[in-house]
Amino acid sequence: MKETRIALIGTGMISHRHMTVIQNLQKQGYPVKVVAAAEIEPARLKAFGERYGLDEKDLYADFREMLKRDDIDEVEVCVHNNLHTSVATAVMQAGYPCYCEKPMAASYADAKIMYDTAKKTGQKLAVQISSIYNPQTRIAKKMIEEGKLGKVYHARSVGHRRQGRPGYDMPMFSHSFIDPNVGVHGPLFDLGIYHLAQMLYILGMPELESVYGFQSCDYWTDERIDKLVGRTAPVEDLGVGLARFKGGLSMDIYEDWAIHMDEIGTSFVAGKNGGLKLIDVDTTGGPLTVPEGGKIVGGGDLQLPRLEWFGIDENGIMFDNKLDCAIGDTTGQQELLMHPEMAMYNDNQLQWYSYLSGDLTDETRIDSPYIAMQTAFLSEGVVISNDLGRSVSADEIKAMAKSIALREQETPFGTIKYDFDDYQA
Ligand SMILES: NC(=O)c1ccc[n+]([C@@H]2O[C@H](COP(=O)([O-])OP(=O)(O)OC[C@H]3O[C@@H](n4cnc5c(N)ncnc54)[C@H](O)[C@@H]3O)[C@@H](O)[C@H]2O)c1
Repeated sequence: MKETRIALIGTGMISHRHMTVIQNLQKQGYPVKVVAAAEIEPARLKAFGERYGLDEKDLYADFREMLKRDDIDEVEVCVHNNLHTSVATAVMQAGYPCYCEKPMAASYADAKIMYDTAKKTGQKLAVQISSIYNPQTRIAKKMIEEGKLGKVYHARSVGHRRQGRPGYDMPMFSHSFIDPNVGVHGPLFDLGIYHLAQMLYILGMPELESVYGFQSCDYWTDERIDKLVGRTAPVEDLGVGLARFKGGLSMDIYEDWAIHMDEIGTSFVAGKNGGLKLIDVDTTGGPLTVPEGGKIVGGGDLQLPRLEWFGIDENGIMFDNKLDCAIGDTTGQQELLMHPEMAMYNDNQLQWYSYLSGDLTDETRIDSPYIAMQTAFLSEGVVISNDLGRSVSADEIKAMAKSIALREQETPFGTIKYDFDDYQA
């Protein structure tokens, strides 16, 4: 692999997970190196520089100054949701490949602007979606492609947290998650991308026909916490939907980050001859995200995704096969011993660096921007349907989706103006 010189924009919570992956890759001998970082909060920027040994000259308040350097190979965007399009388009327009945090954007229109900007500028782009970089997803996708389930007629995409709103019940997380201007949406866009994107990807990116959606924010709150976290206008706490795809496939969607409930079941795929249950979908990344002697940033312990395959054999005998699918677990480790190149498919960032250095191509990498954009399309359908109180067709979503990404941002050193309207379709 060629050396990759990395710059980060935003040094909040998730930037430390990026750094953990980079440090773990360095320990394994990969030539990846962080050469610069930008952050609008001076104290946070200084602390980041001290923690990771970056010189003061490599630390920037204004990322646009950082983009004037000539020794950067790619830029990782770790700002919050409604700034993804604003900052990522600036990065690509400045001539850099861009790896962006999830969700791709806070609206479908903005995800499409990012996608189109990559095409128009000829820059490489990837979006963090940890759930699709592991054997659980690969095995499920292959089984469906090989027809092991027969015709698939329904899928369920679910995720939940019990009273786990980032920035509210979980105060260690950034308040931006529940800020309607920056986080913009609730669990459907936040955790939902992991479940929806995984489901769309394993189903072969089916074409959406219509969706009926509902969102609400009626969950328990307390004005003492409201005051503490500065909650004024809340984002949604629940997103549900029922989607219809071409070819006779339906999907129900349930994404919730505050329910008073322990279990709500798992995502699954139902086919004529078999069913697949997706257990412990990975929302934090594989073993590379685990710091030495520590916990995964924001995610606790390493997740161990599994699959359960239900079917019936040619003699009419029903079976239930349990498949270990975790990278740090038996199946994943044995697969890596036999096929070391699969490491490139087991981690977001390693796949990105492999793609940048040419070890993976447009044909062999997982097209995360396309998957993330189509996920945003479905999520946007839920939002528009909820607003209209009726189901919406794919054509209506395309026509009604609006760009809401921030065009101006107040910072301690003045206003940053973002200009990406030329990239709108
Ligand atoms: N925290 C997590 O566990 C987690 C997990 C997965 C994905 N993410 C995603 O990562 C993104 C960031 O989340 P976070 O938790 O790190 O939030 P955060 O608020 O902790 O970090 C964002 C940082 O970006 C900085 N910033 C804002 N505008 C900037 C600009 N113009 N230039 C430079 N810096 C700027 C902010 O000052 C802040 O420090 C979100 O989109 C989130 O969905 C977060």
